[in-house]
This record gives sequence, structure tokens and C-alpha cells, in this order.
Amino acid sequence: GGRVRVHHLQKAKAEGRKFAMLTAYDTMMANLFDESGIEVLLVGDSAANTVVGYSSTLPITLDEMVVFAKAVTSGVKRALVVCDMPFGSYEVSPEQAVTSAVRLMKEGGVHAVKLEGGTYFAPHVRALVAAGIPVMAHIGFTPQSEHALGGYRVQGRGDAAGALVEDAQALEAAGAFAVLMEMVPTEAARRVDEALHVPTVGIGAGPVTTGQVLVWQDMLGLGGGKGARFVKKYADLRSIVTLAATAYHQDVVSGTFPAPEHEFED
Ligand code: KIV
Ligand code: NA
Repeated sequence: GGRVRVHHLQKAKAEGRKFAMLTAYDTMMANLFDESGIEVLLVGDSAANTVVGYSSTLPITLDEMVVFAKAVTSGVKRALVVCDMPFGSYEVSPEQAVTSAVRLMKEGGVHAVKLEGGTYFAPHVRALVAAGIPVMAHIGFTPQSEHALGGYRVQGRGDAAGALVEDAQALEAAGAFAVLMEMVPTEAARRVDEALHVPTVGIGAGPVTTGQVLVWQDMLGLGGGKGARFVKKYADLRSIVTLAATAYHQDVVSGTFPAPEHEFED
């Protein structure tokens, strides 16, 4: 069929169907994921880590996100493309949020934005929605608040689940079309999902959400190391790329590449 729209995701929740979301930062991977049927692509500010090599998402700028957004949207025909609002591009005021999101939509061509935070950001969400910009809210562990939260830790355990539900409801009331939860116990995620009409998306939130999201380099095993508990590795791209690069290097130094079929005749 045609493009995935916000209302298709809402219908999925109403009908008890799931959808998949993956990050993308460049046109070729975006195109592959789009053609694989992934419903939602996220131009995540995780590009700070996965593409630029920063040790947190905090330094990435709106200008940088615009470039990744353009790359992704130019590779996509069907998926809904959501773009993260980077740290510092929306917190100051609802006006600042609209100004930044307009750049991501206008220059980056994305279809929706995502921002991190709870009830405090309901006015920001409301202003974006009023401007015609669909918003996905991101609660639970929010990497831009790493230093306030005291590092990478599960959020919403025990009594804290109630606050998570309140945040989610305030964001839904402000007009968010979906609420993403990162690193929360499954029981808290279930409470949030049941309290909302809009779909939820989870990363480390168990199987109860309508959508799931992963960072593609984690999902395809490009990075080294064991990875977080919530990641499932569907491929080992790290070995595939290492083997290929090693073979190429070997061929070059031994003089086997280029072969006659790679040469031009006079
Ligand atoms: O930036 C990102 O990749 C994200 C997802 C992990 C939810 O926000
Ligand atoms: Na993000």
C-alpha cells in the first residue's frame, strides 16, 4: 500500500497488531529497512554515538540532525520517518521546539519528531501538534538526561511506575501520537500502555508495547561487545565487514586485485 501514517499506527494498537521501528542515519540503510517493511524509521540522536562517535547524545546539533534526516528521507518511500529533537533544541520553550522541528520537517523532510521528557514538556508537545507536527514522546530512561538520572538505569521501578503513567497521560493529552518507553520494567510498560489510547513503542520495555525499536547497528551486530540486555542481534555484520575488508587488503597487497576484468582497455 501507500505511506505509513500516524493513523495506521493508532489503528494497529486498536486492532492488536504490532509494528517495528529501527533507527536509520543514511540513505542506503534507510532504503533497505524501508523495503524490508519496517513501518517506522527513527533518525535517532543516537547518531551521536553510532555515526559521529561521541560518548553521549548530548553534543549532536540540530544542523547535524538535519543532514541525517535528509539522507534518510531521500531513501524512503513507505516508512514513517520520525526525527529526534537533539538536546538543547526544544527545552527552552514551546516556541523553540516549533522553530527546531520546522527545520527538521522543512529541510530534513521528516514526517514527525520525537522529544525526551515528561509532563513538563506537555506545552512543547501541544505547540508542535498545533503547528501540524506529529510528536512521539520519549519517557522512561531518556539518554539526554543521563547526568540528571545518574547514568544508564532502569526507570519506573516500584512506586515510580505511577509517575511514568502520569507523564504518559499528560503527553497523550497534549497530542502526542505515540509514547516511547526506554528501559522500564515490563509491568510499568503494561500500566502505561493500558492507560493510553495512543500506541506505545518499547526499547527494553518488554513485549507489551504496540511497537518495538532498536538501534540498527545493535540489531545487526556492527558494534563490538556484548550489548545491552534489551538488544537482540539478528546478524553479525562486524565479522562480515571485517572478513571482507581483510580479504580486500590481502588482495591489494598481493596484487590479485584489480584483475583483468576490473581494468579498462586503451
Ligand atoms: O536515538 C535513538 O536511537 C533513540 C531510540 C533508541 C529510542 O531514541
Ligand atoms: Na534518541
